[in-house]
Amino acid sequence: MELFEAIQTRRSIRTFREDEVPRNKVKIILESAILAPSEGNLQSWRFYVVTNKEVKEELAKAALDQKFVAQAPVVIVVCTNLQAVTPYGKRGRELYALQSTAAAIENMLLTAVSQGLGACWVGAFREDKVARILNLKTTLRPVALVAVGYSAEEPPSRGRIPVEAVSVFLE
Ligand SMILES: Cc1cc2nc3c(=O)[nH]c(=O)nc-3n(C[C@H](O)[C@H](O)[C@H](O)COP(=O)(O)O)c2cc1C
Repeated sequence: MELFEAIQTRRSIRTFREDEVPRNKVKIILESAILAPSEGNLQSWRFYVVTNKEVKEELAKAALDQKFVAQAPVVIVVCTNLQAVTPYGKRGRELYALQSTAAAIENMLLTAVSQGLGACWVGAFREDKVARILNLKTTLRPVALVAVGYSAEEPPSRGRIPVEAVSVFLE
């Protein structure tokens, strides 16, 4: 699949078939995540791959009861290491580290599409609860849950504000 086609056809998927996601597909998604750019190539991301039913149910509750999180065959919790030694100080910890995880997450979403899967980026969750569920060290901040599985829906495009309205060209 061409990259722009994957970008155009990707949708947030919130209804999944029960079929298991093969491990090699999860691996490819993670491989695409770690190929994202990061500040000074620090790669301070960490990924928790959850397929355990009970743990997914707890994550769904922590995600303000978004039930599709439990329904997804795989939930990947993306974390950033708050104690990564950064030469970039406050800006590195508060901005770059999050931007790098966001780049990794977008790679994951697009790679899911290329693998015939659907996914949804979930940002609305209680970080303290997720940290407790996964028994995370205090140095790890969970920044997103990515629900992954075979899509059981075909949502229409949510639509976008046109390029002309959100861009300024200085010529
Ligand atoms: C930072 C971020 C947080 C998000 N959090 C949630 C969420 O908690 N629950 C959810 O269902 N969708 C969430 N989404 C998905 C957005 O709702 C979705 O991307 C947007 O409506 C556009 O739809 P599309 O992805 O199908 O193009 C999140 C997306 C981003 C980038």
